[in-house]
Amino acid sequence: MLKWWQETVFYEIYMPSFKDGNGDGIGDFKGLLEKVPYLAELGVGGIWLTPFYPSPKVDNGYDVSDYYAVDPDYGTMADLEAFVAEAHRHGIRVIADMVVNHVSTEHAWFVESRSSRTNPKRDWFVWQDAPNNWESFFGGSAWEWDAGTEQYYYHSFATEQVDLNWANPEVEREIWKVFDFWLDKGLDGFRLDVINNLTLTRDFMDNPVVDGEQQHVFDKDQPGMMAKMAEIGERIRARGDYFTVGEISSDNLAEIERYAGSDGLDVTFNFNFGSVASRDGIVAELARMQQVYADGRMPTLFFGSHDMSRSWNRLADGREDVAQLLSMLMLTAHGVPFVYFGEEIGMADFVPESMREMRDVQGVYAYELALQDGKSEHEALVAAQEKTRDKARAPMTWPEGFSDKTEAWIGEVTPDFARGQRMFAFYQALIALRKTADFCEPGYRDFKVDGELLTYVRGEHLVCLNFGAAREMENKWGDLTPVLANLDVVVDADRIMLPAFAAVIFKI
Ligand code: NOJ
Ligand code: CA
Repeated sequence: MLKWWQETVFYEIYMPSFKDGNGDGIGDFKGLLEKVPYLAELGVGGIWLTPFYPSPKVDNGYDVSDYYAVDPDYGTMADLEAFVAEAHRHGIRVIADMVVNHVSTEHAWFVESRSSRTNPKRDWFVWQDAPNNWESFFGGSAWEWDAGTEQYYYHSFATEQVDLNWANPEVEREIWKVFDFWLDKGLDGFRLDVINNLTLTRDFMDNPVVDGEQQHVFDKDQPGMMAKMAEIGERIRARGDYFTVGEISSDNLAEIERYAGSDGLDVTFNFNFGSVASRDGIVAELARMQQVYADGRMPTLFFGSHDMSRSWNRLADGREDVAQLLSMLMLTAHGVPFVYFGEEIGMADFVPESMREMRDVQGVYAYELALQDGKSEHEALVAAQEKTRDKARAPMTWPEGFSDKTEAWIGEVTPDFARGQRMFAFYQALIALRKTADFCEPGYRDFKVDGELLTYVRGEHLVCLNFGAAREMENKWGDLTPVLANLDVVVDADRIMLPAFAAVIFKI
């Protein structure tokens, strides 16, 4: 018996950018509620919502200042509940982003902690007299001087995102309450933010530096992390049929996969597949995943998120056939797929043209660090454009517009509605197919990589994905009925002729 999430196509919604329901230019639960029928029509069965908790939004909600409420920009608790009920009515489950590695410096726990060295919450965060060499994942030192109490606090991301001290059992107990609260609200599971970064030890060994680049060795995957992950997974599973997906800050499959399974989280994101800079390594990585997950556990399948350039630009070079090739891989392979909002209509990147348009803290950090390094303003802007995650955060291009009253909180991209309709229909067909038994079952038959051609059989379906130039392949199946293709594929008794970037599913 498969679990519900093993048969589910998830859809990531970046809260501020999906749909504005009250005309202030920021996406919200009212807008989301309106769009549930759209998601049902697309066919997705699960939604991952990025953080919606009160937050000063230095990192757009990944800096939580209250775990038990809804940020007024997104609506009220009642709006959230109405949205979840509507999603459930359409058979769509909803998982929430849980950011428990760090909180906002405005969170009451930290306000207390920094009030004096003897405050009972002092040890809920990581305080040191002297910093070690650890760098923040956004760049610059990960330690910030607190003049009031004359110690440094640790922040693995922005200065305003202070790391919780998971070595303190009180912190852990408090976070279990947070999990319980949201499960009691009817959410169906969690996406756990940078969950292998939790600070579990007090070793603080300097990280190695190779060719001037810090290697994040001792500030993540600390001793005890496997057991901690098992505990988190177990606690959530013990409450019922919930789903957990871990964001693991690593692009090494061996590190990523060990946290997934019945003695860890349900699944973990593999960035060496989803966020690669070009198409080149995708087929080889899928082949590795096929071996690693041959035991029936599931990898995740995605080519986009709010943290990277959109796959339309990064991987498809703005080509519809390639975008469809990627979507066919993602929606027919063995794993749990995550569609990033807008991908199903072929949305392109937004690139801020000036620092005035730059919203992402990572882009701003890159700009400041470049200036500190003696770079010119223009060079610093280019560095920021390179790093900024604003690229994927432009608002969804709805036919009626994102917001009916005002400009959006971030720059918009020019819509291409005709392309959108074709892409949507392709995604819709793939998702419908994915719901059939063939594509839900774990594993492959006849999994084969031949140069840039990837083929596999799932149930009674043969999938051919040509990542290279036009070519032929042997037809050893005989009678093949094409079910879905992005380009014209010719089949005769012996051969299958595949144009460059062809993606086709046959019934065998
Ligand atoms: C990963 C999130 O996806 C990203 O957007 C965020 O900046 C970091 N974690 C820190 O919370
Ligand atoms: Ca709004």
